[in-house]
Amino acid sequence: MNEVCDIPAALVNLLRDARHVCILTGAGVSAESGVPTFRDAQDGLWAKYEPQDLATPEAFLADPALIWRWYRWRRELVAEAQPNAGHYAIAKLAELVPQVTLITQNVDGLHQRAGSKNVIEFHGNIFEDRCFADGTLHTADDKMEIPTCPDCGADLRPGVVWFGEAIPETASSESYTAASDCDVFLSIGTSSLVYPAAGLADLAKTSGASVVEVNPDPTAHAANFDFIIAGNSGLVMPELIELLAVEPGLE
Ligand code: APR
Repeated sequence: MNEVCDIPAALVNLLRDARHVCILTGAGVSAESGVPTFRDAQDGLWAKYEPQDLATPEAFLADPALIWRWYRWRRELVAEAQPNAGHYAIAKLAELVPQVTLITQNVDGLHQRAGSKNVIEFHGNIFEDRCFADGTLHTADDKMEIPTCPDCGADLRPGVVWFGEAIPETASSESYTAASDCDVFLSIGTSSLVYPAAGLADLAKTSGASVVEVNPDPTAHAANFDFIIAGNSGLVMPELIELLAVEPGLE
């Protein structure tokens, strides 16, 4: 089997013996599906737009029509995208180890479309519509430039977590529990710059887990990780699954 990237046997053995694997993913996992990341210097979303102009409650209050146009553009882009080999391999991992908890910062739903179950959407879901006043889930009338809440008449907003907003209660508590309980923590395709998500790997490490980073460009936190796999998740994760599937001693 021709190795695409160097995955240490020690990591494969660690996963083979793992009781609970906790995975945190970021925009890098969807990059190979054509969904732009946020901080890629050239074509990252934040290279083209100011996050504070488009991804804050203040920006929505200032110009809800602009925000809805932007999110409808991103919804179309994501709807046309397909899960990639990285998404499918992450879904497959759940069949190879006793317990997997998948926490994603991605709002694109591609993990679920690749077959992952019980995905914790730490930053919400771009296809959800919520009442701006009380956060209740609704279905927006897409014919309306700025859809409104059928219950209270307030504007509806995309169901994503904006800068300065709290992480949904359940997503937050389930993620902290999993990060504290797991024995292997995989951080895949995230710049590890946005908290509180970026703090989960440290929590896992201080709770005794082995922590692994998968990223073509090792992040500023790389030194905190026990294993750093410098590669694209669409190559690294399928290879990891293939190595895991090989009977020990037959590698
Ligand atoms: N495979 C793995 N990692 C990749 C790939 C790939 N094919 N391509 C790029 N990457 C890495 C980049 O090197 C970068 O470190 O993915 C990371 C993407 O980082 P960001 O764009 O910062 O995305 P993310 O970490 O998910 O951002 C966190 O910030 O803007 C907010 O709410 C938004 O959820 C988002 C949060």
